[in-house]
Amino acid sequence: MRYGHFDDDSREYVITRPDTPVPWINYLGTDGYFGIISNTAGGYSWHRDARLRRLTRYRYNNVPGDCGGRYLYLRDDRTGVYWSPSWQPTRTGLDDYECRHGLSYTTISSAKAGIRARTLYFVPQGETLEVWRLTLTNERARPADISVFSSVEFALWDAQDDTTNFQRNYSTGEVEVDGGVIYHKTEYRERRDHFAYFACSEPLAGFDTQREAFLGPYRGFDSPQAVELGRASGSIAHGWAPYGAHHVRVTLEPGATKEVIFLLGYWENPRAAKFAAPGVINKALVRPVIERWLRPQAVAAAFDSLKASWAGLLGVLRVDTPDADTNRMVNIWNAYQCLVTFNMSRSVSSFETGISRGMGFRDSCQDLLGSVQLAPERARERIIDLASTQFANGGAYHQYQPLTKTGNDAIGSGFNDDPLWLVLGVAAYLKETGDFSVLDQEIPFSDEGAASLYGHLERSLRYTLDRIGPHGLPLIGRADWNDCLNLNCFSQTPGESFQTTQNIPGGVAESVFIAGLFTLAARELAAIAAAHGRGEDADSYRADAEKMAAVVAEHGWDGEWFLRAYDHFGNPVGSARDTEGQIFAEPQGICVMGGIGLANGTEADASLATRTLTSVRERLATPHGIMLLQPAFASYRVELGEISSYPPGYKENGSVFCHTNPWLMIASAMVGDGDAAFDYYKRINPSAREPISELHRCEPYVYAQMIAGRDAPTHGEAKNSWLTGTAAWNLVAITQWILGIRPELAGLRVEPVLPAHWAGYTATRRFRGATYEITVRRASAGGYLAVDGQRVHGTLVPLAAPGSSVRVDAVLPSR
Ligand code: GLC
Ligand code: GLC
Repeated sequence: MRYGHFDDDSREYVITRPDTPVPWINYLGTDGYFGIISNTAGGYSWHRDARLRRLTRYRYNNVPGDCGGRYLYLRDDRTGVYWSPSWQPTRTGLDDYECRHGLSYTTISSAKAGIRARTLYFVPQGETLEVWRLTLTNERARPADISVFSSVEFALWDAQDDTTNFQRNYSTGEVEVDGGVIYHKTEYRERRDHFAYFACSEPLAGFDTQREAFLGPYRGFDSPQAVELGRASGSIAHGWAPYGAHHVRVTLEPGATKEVIFLLGYWENPRAAKFAAPGVINKALVRPVIERWLRPQAVAAAFDSLKASWAGLLGVLRVDTPDADTNRMVNIWNAYQCLVTFNMSRSVSSFETGISRGMGFRDSCQDLLGSVQLAPERARERIIDLASTQFANGGAYHQYQPLTKTGNDAIGSGFNDDPLWLVLGVAAYLKETGDFSVLDQEIPFSDEGAASLYGHLERSLRYTLDRIGPHGLPLIGRADWNDCLNLNCFSQTPGESFQTTQNIPGGVAESVFIAGLFTLAARELAAIAAAHGRGEDADSYRADAEKMAAVVAEHGWDGEWFLRAYDHFGNPVGSARDTEGQIFAEPQGICVMGGIGLANGTEADASLATRTLTSVRERLATPHGIMLLQPAFASYRVELGEISSYPPGYKENGSVFCHTNPWLMIASAMVGDGDAAFDYYKRINPSAREPISELHRCEPYVYAQMIAGRDAPTHGEAKNSWLTGTAAWNLVAITQWILGIRPELAGLRVEPVLPAHWAGYTATRRFRGATYEITVRRASAGGYLAVDGQRVHGTLVPLAAPGSSVRVDAVLPSR
């Protein structure tokens, strides 16, 4: 069953009933001011840091759900009937309803009793404010008197403190109302130089700034007293819960339309010019901004330019394949999700509160893979931020805070895969941009000293080589990519964090996954070194990769697939010898990607990749995607850590952990199996799963971190949508390995590995300033690649001059 449909021409998902299984959300903002918005206007906003600069309040896990948002109320002043044009929070029946989630904007439209309302929410680019543009139309045959009430509940900035520290916070709240603008200025009197404001384009009939005055005692957002009575009380918040509510009266003739603009914004004053009078905000700087954005023309122009900017960005790659789900994910939604994920890391979604997690080191490195083509300058900056949280020994803070860009001491370091991802992120940047100058940039370590970025990458590899266990495989430390495989932890205390508790000493737990990742990273760095005129380095990294690959072939192979690890005592993990957790997905993908067991090795070696992929198909693949492991752990295994703390089939304990699926798509493509690669791609493609929305439950336009696995009673149900490494990796898998349009250091490779039933496809790729018009088709005889009609040797398209446009014909041998 569906709850809406895609509108690809408008690049929107259209939700046609408000009661989706969970709130289906979207993100507002592209630079510094951001918000989450659900299909019923729930959500909240923040400036740069979702924890420390939270503008509005939200109640996670409230009943009913999705509580707190950008609410408008309409009241028919002749009858006293009132409703929410976004359905929530009053949940009054609407005559029709439609939510369109677009790229960084959302519109919610509805009609009730002849009053049509359409609200556009977006953040003008470069501004620290959001616009709500309400368009009201009277479709009745008689005039209508309508009261419009706006409503936001302010958060007292630090979202964590805001939900816990009531003994203080019930006394600190302060507001000002000036010229119809509501200013929220809690703590402005002391160390904050910022405030929030809530403005309206129309003359006000009234306002409220104290929550309880607006809602009335013991009432919720679903039945505010002010709305019921048709008048606000002019309350001024002193402590308690500062609120923003405007009341506007509108009279509409039959057929008439009226636009009302609301602005919610953030403003920071220079410290020396904070006050106009003792305790009074100096509004001289913010006032012109408010005036500008209350003008309909400014709003309309900014909305057009937001749309144009997305259209421009998405023009980097346009594909036209025989598969509609592929086209819309590649051309629109997957790219969009990549950039949102790049902006938010894993901090703020329906499943992450914006409070507890900063930017993950490995997460952010992987996010680069899917966003570098969309935002190369920001990718460069991100790379430098990430490298600055490295230690001189090559290790890295597991997370850092976006506002201060410093590492998180509470979590610390010791996730031994972390530094290697930086090599992959930088490689992706170099392949996309060719900007080798970044390698020479001097970047400090977070403890002592500094090195060029290239030096940082060297130390990333060195970090692994300095931590080798008894089988010659890398030591796992706290965990590797799988945060929940904690082999040195042995936690017996309820609630203790598996990631931060003291590991028991003397552990020799080793990770086959890190070995595969190291092999991949060492080959990448070898290619970078060679292209950067460091031939000797290149040879030595290549030798490191070969050596590690050989160790994996010897000690990391279980017989039919790659082992996952060796535990603290040296026993194999992910082996047929165990009864549970016999096979894990992630080493099968990453080892093949690292070139282990591929055809360029020996004959015996060559069979490893295909054998392990057969094992994956037989043991891990379900119609809902590839499970992380099988069989799931039925009970807690203290020697394995958090992984077995999850009930079977969920999260790291055997869900379809979508992040790893593209690794198996890539591995399948690498062995030339386009059917398997595309089949796996389709199984988790959100658009392809749209018809089973009642089972999938999360948004059909973005990937989710997990889909419950076969061992779970809810097999097929998705969770943790939006912020996941799945976004970047799926985009890489489909565009670079299946469609085969792959940026490399020396140019653009076009090497499709298509499913047999495809005749071909066309694509346009902007790459290093030139445009490549690509046509892929099958021929009866042998394949070839032609550039502007001239056949070239191999599959690498030579770099075209910036500004030029070249035609690439890839002819695949039919099979
Ligand atoms: C989450 C984390 C990621 C980790 C994965 C597997 O997605 O954000 O860092 O690799 O879980 O545990
Ligand atoms: C990752 C995992 C999650 C785990 C968390 C611990 O996000 O996906 O299962 O609880 O890391 O920090």
